Amino acid sequence: MKILVIGSGAREHTLVWKLSQSEKVSKIFCAPGNGGISDLAECVNIKAEDIDMLLGFAIKEKIDLTVVGPEAPLVGGIVDKFRQEGLKIFGPGSNAAKLEGSKKFSKDFMAKYQIPTGRYESFDNADGALKGLDEFDYPLVIKADGLAAGKGVVICNSKEEAKIAIKEMIINKKFGEAGNNIIIEEFLSGTEASLLCFVAGNRLIPMESARDYKKAYDGDEGLNTGGMGCFSPNPIFTDDLIATVEDEILNKIETGLKEENLGFSGVLFIGLMITEGGPKVLEFNVRMGDPETEVVIPRLKNDLVEVFESAMDETLEKSDLSWSSKACLCVIAASGGYPINYEKDKVINGINNTHENVIVFHGGTRKHDDELFTNGGRVLAVTYLGNNIDEARKEVYKNIEKISFEKMFYRKDIGEI
Ligand code: AMP
Ligand code: GLY
Repeated sequence: MKILVIGSGAREHTLVWKLSQSEKVSKIFCAPGNGGISDLAECVNIKAEDIDMLLGFAIKEKIDLTVVGPEAPLVGGIVDKFRQEGLKIFGPGSNAAKLEGSKKFSKDFMAKYQIPTGRYESFDNADGALKGLDEFDYPLVIKADGLAAGKGVVICNSKEEAKIAIKEMIINKKFGEAGNNIIIEEFLSGTEASLLCFVAGNRLIPMESARDYKKAYDGDEGLNTGGMGCFSPNPIFTDDLIATVEDEILNKIETGLKEENLGFSGVLFIGLMITEGGPKVLEFNVRMGDPETEVVIPRLKNDLVEVFESAMDETLEKSDLSWSSKACLCVIAASGGYPINYEKDKVINGINNTHENVIVFHGGTRKHDDELFTNGGRVLAVTYLGNNIDEARKEVYKNIEKISFEKMFYRKDIGEI
């Protein structure tokens, strides 16, 4: 089989790494890929958002299966276009991708199917939104409706901050069209947890749980990032919590997918807040998480091609999935200044000095004449599959020290629960 993976992060490197272990696979292409992916796949210089170019490439190369990493092409309708040409692709159509692409759509879906979530109202004009503030206590959360590269959520501690956020989004168009509609939402306190599920038609098949660390610095200080480290399994998912999530959240999502005709084959990533009143949904993503993928996929024992194929045939069952009882942890080595301003093109040293059992998934890297350079904010995901979280954490931290590039930084507290 010839496979095309779309994207360029450590998530995509992990997917390519896992897919390359399948006996069914003869060749993997990755568009656009990165310096680490190029060791396992042929990188193709097409951007993940360039759907027409990707389609032309897949037709020309007779690609048997396309796997989409990031959300933008999914929300942009890549799955519909590939299917129209008879190409197999793993991911939601643009109708279901709205569960991530429009916060209003996803909140309305949650409300309609009584999926526990924060109270909210949506607005398409600044006057209405400013008046709407009176209905909420502080802190409250203001969200741009559309995709905003993870930056469209603002937690406001006062009315002043909320007014600024509303004006920035609706009037100053800080996030462009994505802020034409906004959501004002009740602030939920508790512990966040990520649950990724394979989707087979209208059914959700949960993967092993993970815990992401979103803030840039130790002790959860600093700005929100894409994720600075992760581990799996996440001990917050006790049997009781899993049962509650299945009853109150997963079953209701399945009903909603069916009733709204939104079933698809792909992944639904459910961002949860475990509050005193039980688990509540913060958001849906219609793709694998990054760095969740880096710690969940190494624990999957199945052939990933077979899992994707049975999700697409809608035959995948929870009992088909086999997971390692080991624990996996990764720490992100990032460029100084991330998530705001950071420099690129720094030489990366020392990856070859890490222990052979350490897996270094590449995010923002590029290779030139066999030398490796930084090419993004989240540069490397240093990963270890250990007997338990403690062992995995020790091995990752022992080995990440052997890697260096100018202004490299990483969190020192990943896995210290
Ligand atoms: P979202 O893109 O909706 O997941 O929001 C990004 C991040 O903002 C989440 O991971 C949370 O840390 C935070 N967040 C979003 N909504 C809420 C909420 N209602 N209450 C508290 N924090 C939130
Ligand atoms: N780690 C969070 C995300 O992938 O959205």
